[in-house]
Parts: sequence; C-alpha cells; structure tokens
Amino acid sequence: MVTPLVMVMPYKAFVKKATQEGFAVSAIWDPSLASVMPTGPAGFPAYLKEVEGLAEDFILADFTDAEEFAETIEKAAANSGAQQIYHVGQETSMLAAYEIADELGKAVNPPRSIRLLNDKAEMRKLLTAHGLSSVQYAYAQRWQDVESMIGDFRLPAIVKPTDLAGSRGVLKLTDRAQLADWGRLLESYDYTGPVLIEEFLDGPEFSVESISVRGEHHIIGITRKILGPPPSVVEAGHVHPVAESSQTKAIATLTRHLLRVTGYQNGPAHTEVIWTKRGPKIVESQARLGGDRIPQLVEMATGFDIERAIFRALKGEALDPKTRSDVARVHYFSFKPGVLRSVDGLDAVRDLDFVAELSFPFSPGDVIPETVDSKTRHGYVTLSGKDEAETETRLELIKSLVTVVTE
Ligand SMILES: Nc1ncnc2c1ncn2[C@@H]1O[C@H](COP(=O)(O)OP(=O)(O)O)[C@@H](O)[C@H]1O
Ligand SMILES: [Mg+2]
Repeated sequence: MVTPLVMVMPYKAFVKKATQEGFAVSAIWDPSLASVMPTGPAGFPAYLKEVEGLAEDFILADFTDAEEFAETIEKAAANSGAQQIYHVGQETSMLAAYEIADELGKAVNPPRSIRLLNDKAEMRKLLTAHGLSSVQYAYAQRWQDVESMIGDFRLPAIVKPTDLAGSRGVLKLTDRAQLADWGRLLESYDYTGPVLIEEFLDGPEFSVESISVRGEHHIIGITRKILGPPPSVVEAGHVHPVAESSQTKAIATLTRHLLRVTGYQNGPAHTEVIWTKRGPKIVESQARLGGDRIPQLVEMATGFDIERAIFRALKGEALDPKTRSDVARVHYFSFKPGVLRSVDGLDAVRDLDFVAELSFPFSPGDVIPETVDSKTRHGYVTLSGKDEAETETRLELIKSLVTVVTE
C-alpha cells in the first residue's frame, strides 16, 4: 500500500528513501532556494529536476509569500489525499509549514515544538523555565543594543542571531571593540533581527543525532565536533560516533529532556552540546538532520541509514539495527586564502579505499575565500577507520597527498 505524504523542500535523498518506505511524495519547493546546494548555486535547477523526477508530484511556490505558501500546501494535501505534512529541510520555512499543516490537522509535529527548537531565544527561555542546562544569556532586539548589555558578561562571550544557521553571524567576542565588526558581519547577511549574548561555554563540543517516534526520543549516536580557529565558530570537522561513557550518557539524557519539554513528536533532531566544568550545556537544537555530512558519517560508521529511519519512524515501525562499529570522520580543508594556482593529489585521495567522498569545489583561477561561515570552507573529505586513532592517521596521509598553491 502506498501512503501519500506532502513534504516541504524534501532533499533528493528524502524523496528516494520515503518512496522506498512506501510513501508517494508530493514535493513542494521554492525555486529561489539555491543556497541549499553545498558547493554553489549552479547545480540547483538540475537538482530540482531530479527531485521532480523522483517525486509523485512536484509543486513550486514562493515560501516567503505566506498566502501562496499556505494555498500550495493545502492544495497538495487535498490533491494527494495525504494525512501528513512533513518538513525536515531548512529552518527558515519550517515553522510556517507546520502552522499551515496544523490548521489542516496534518502536522507531523506540533508547531510549538518547532518554534521552541528553531528560535534560540525561545529555547533558552524554555530551558531556564525547566531548570535545565543553565546558561547566562541576554536577549537584544538589535545587535546595536548589545554594547550596553555586554558589561554584565565576562569575556569571552558568544554573540549570535536568534535564527540564522551555518555559523552565520556567530562570533566569539574577546573584546567589546569587536562589536562593530560583528554588526558588519550581520549586515553582510542582511540580518536585522534579534540577537543573543551568551556566556562562553568552554569545553569539547558534541552533537546528538536522534530520531523521535511518537514522542519517544531515540539517540542514534553522538558526534564530536572539531572547530576551526576563533573568532568565527565554523566547524572544521566531525567524528562519529563518540565511544559510550558516563559523559555521553549525560549528554543523551539532557538531549532527551530538551526534546521532551519542547513537545517534539516525530522525526530527526540535531542537538549541539558543550561539555563544560559544570556539566553538559545545550548550544542549540534543530528539528532536522545534522548538516556537514553527519548522516553519511553515521552510515559509514554504523551501517545505520538515518535518512531512511525518518520514514520508518513516520510509519511507527521499529528502527533498523546498527551493523558496524567503525568510526567515520569528515574533515574540512583549510588552505591559504587567495587565487588558486594549482591543486594536486585529489584523485590519489579519492582512490584510497577508506575515503568515501572528496569535494574540492575550486578550479585554478578561482578565489579560495577566507572562511567565515560553513559556506566559505574549502571542500571536505570523508573517511572511516576501525577507531578514532586510525581515522586520525589516515587523515594525516590524506593531508600529505593534497597540495594546493594559492597566491
Ligand atoms: N554559548 C556558547 N558558548 C560557546 N560556544 C558557542 C556558544 N554558542 C555557540 N557556540 C559555538 O558557535 C557554534 C555556532 O553556534 P550555533 O548557536 O550552533 O549557531 P548555528 O545555528 O549557526 O549553528 C556552535 O556550534 C558552538 O561551537
Ligand atoms: Mg549550530
């Protein structure tokens, strides 16, 4: 039996796996969302064509036009007979989609849970109200208001927009003189919304990959995050999974608590946690899978297909068991910014049997940018090994094989 399902901005893999699990997907996309392409907007029209080819039905809409968005979702549900409307794409349109779905009685999750997860200020307020993960923070309507509030914080502190993603506009502030630079950074993203100041949580950072099934939160695994150099907070890599310990258990418990108090019911969550001297503290959580190839790392390391699990969970079926116990890693390259003169060794790396994927989206003559957010990184490699030490040695070999000359 095939079950109709309306999905807002489903990535290709989601349409494929939903179909494998017996869903007929009506896919709704916004043709202006080329920013979803990890290596630049050029391939977006072709990508949408592929989604269209895989989906049962394919409808385009302007997600920023509230009326058009609502009408499109409503029509897709009516035409397909779908009883469920799902959104596991980018945060920006997620809450609006769930509100529309909820009005139709077809939301996979209560909109409130999405609002609490999407909005970093709402999440902090909720956690404080429940006495969970106490973190000193303050809310400001505009970045310009931070100057007068920063005196209440010990530096370094973190300043960030309440609802951007991809490390955009998040800065580690060691000196209040950096506030003007931060303001310019926010302006470069056309961001004029509210911001948060937070105490700097000092310690190793993890993310928790989970799947919720009717309000029961299954922790699939914990990932360790490797950060690039400050003051930006851009991920330089991830290792999955972190071996189980009392620390990972405490991180998992805190994550379950957070998801429970938001009322989140069904689907993936990606929750970021820093382990401080005062225990685990939540950075943020989103109602979608982790980015940065984390779902691929989960599969490489454990054999568990977390994308497919999303749709098994939607059917209320038991999740598949893990079939491997390796460790996988993604490493983001960081070269000297400048004009690329030459690059060597990429194919030698791709030929290594422990390498799954290598992306280097530049050709000679292109500018290798300074890394300020996740989009301005310099490509990546994913690899696996029997344990973390082996992935480390293998990564060193990879780095020694790649030669990039910029000037
Ligand atoms: N209060 C904090 N203390 C220390 N580091 C933080 C804090 N808040 C954010 N960060 C760092 O900045 C990164 C990006 O912040 P986050 O809130 O996750 O924004 P984004 O939505 O852009 O991912 C985090 O992964 C973490 O490394
Ligand atoms: Mg984050």
